[in-house]
Amino acid sequence: MIQKEMVVNLNKQLNLELFSSNLYLQMSAWCNDNKLSEGCKFFKQQSNEEINHMHRLFDYLNDSGNLPRIGAIDKPPKHFPSFKDIIQFSYEHEKMISEKINKLSHYAIEIKDYLTFHFLEWYVSEQYEEEKIFKSILDRIDLMRTETNGLYFIDQSLKNIRKI
Ligand SMILES: [Fe+2]
Repeated sequence: MIQKEMVVNLNKQLNLELFSSNLYLQMSAWCNDNKLSEGCKFFKQQSNEEINHMHRLFDYLNDSGNLPRIGAIDKPPKHFPSFKDIIQFSYEHEKMISEKINKLSHYAIEIKDYLTFHFLEWYVSEQYEEEKIFKSILDRIDLMRTETNGLYFIDQSLKNIRKI
């Protein structure tokens, strides 16, 4: 049995995952509009992953006899100054989500809801991956901005000359 306050918090997280999905879908559209075809695919995939995050919460609430509540989802921003801004925005967004998950996990321990704590562990690892992905893209962008000849591409080319 999940306590009422925890159900409310899990529902909030569910709706936040929906917002994340919409945010990345909007970013996918921005990429397409700016002729970034791989970025368009990448963010569409991110958007689908967020739907999966939402569905996990939806199923957990359903399966534990609680009613998932879909609320009004805020409109995501649609204007971004640059691709780097999109990645930076995504990175900050994921850090905020990680904080929410950590708070939920902490709360689960506090109220001795070990089942929900166990359920949330998957999200803790997933957030580590999400943050890592966006940070790695930011690092690549920074490398390209600091080396006129594109240090990133030089670094990538090393894999072709590595001895097997
Ligand atoms: Fe998520």
